[in-house]
Amino acid sequence: MEIQDISIAFEGNSVLDHVRMQVAKGEFVTLIGASGCGKSTLLNILAGVLHPQKGSFFVDGQRIKGISSHFAYMPQSDLLLPWKTILDNVTLYAQIHHDVKNARQKALAEFPAFGLSGYENAYPHELSGGMRQRAAFLRTALCAAQIMLLDEPFGALDVITRNEMQDWLLRLRSELQKTTLLVTHDIDEALYLSDRILVLGGSPASIVKEIDLRNVVKSRDWLFAQGDLRKEIYAILRGKNHAS
Ligand SMILES: Nc1ncnc2c1ncn2[C@@H]1O[C@H](COP(=O)(O)OP(=O)(O)O)[C@@H](O)[C@H]1O
Ligand SMILES: [Mg+2]
Repeated sequence: MEIQDISIAFEGNSVLDHVRMQVAKGEFVTLIGASGCGKSTLLNILAGVLHPQKGSFFVDGQRIKGISSHFAYMPQSDLLLPWKTILDNVTLYAQIHHDVKNARQKALAEFPAFGLSGYENAYPHELSGGMRQRAAFLRTALCAAQIMLLDEPFGALDVITRNEMQDWLLRLRSELQKTTLLVTHDIDEALYLSDRILVLGGSPASIVKEIDLRNVVKSRDWLFAQGDLRKEIYAILRGKNHAS
């Protein structure tokens, strides 16, 4: 996927300014930025919900306009339908596309890996916060789209559950084999999960730094030792790009 110089303003207020990036097939890229800097706006543009005033984006060299089948979007809130069971929730897209039988079988096969076994016929309110997020995530992963857009998927969870979910996602990543663009304001989450980190900074925001972690073998111990990197990202998020 390639994004070329996307800019957007709301009522004259410029939010994103010439954002550009490339994400390779199968890569896990995290976009980190302070709250309100325009992360969800960028995902909404890719998902075709918003239209940029400038710029364009491409998947496999093809220009994408509007809603496309290339992206599976997990928005910031979990959006499980309270009146539907977990199995019905995770196969929602298939219900829209009238392919339910196949989808239910595929979904059921994934329930153990997503820690949801035994909850197929439960309703969202019967699940813990972490389980609900995993269910929303399973729904996104089951979507045939090759690129997942994840907007702060663990943002609403307590720190222990969040860490457990990150460990789980790190293990699951290689199995899913999907291209992923994750959005977060959590520095540790970005460091722990990503092949590459893109830091959104400035106002209006653009990508001001890229951190390549492709050769790192991730562990919590590695993460705890990244004091300098953490400081550097923190300085950018605070708006002090030249703090060193
Ligand atoms: N539809 C909209 N209309 C007007 N302003 C918006 C709209 N969507 C987002 N904004 C503004 O754009 C900025 C970026 O928002 P958002 O993308 O949600 O930030 P983030 O996800 O990084 O926290 C904020 O100042 C927000 O108020
Ligand atoms: Mg947001």
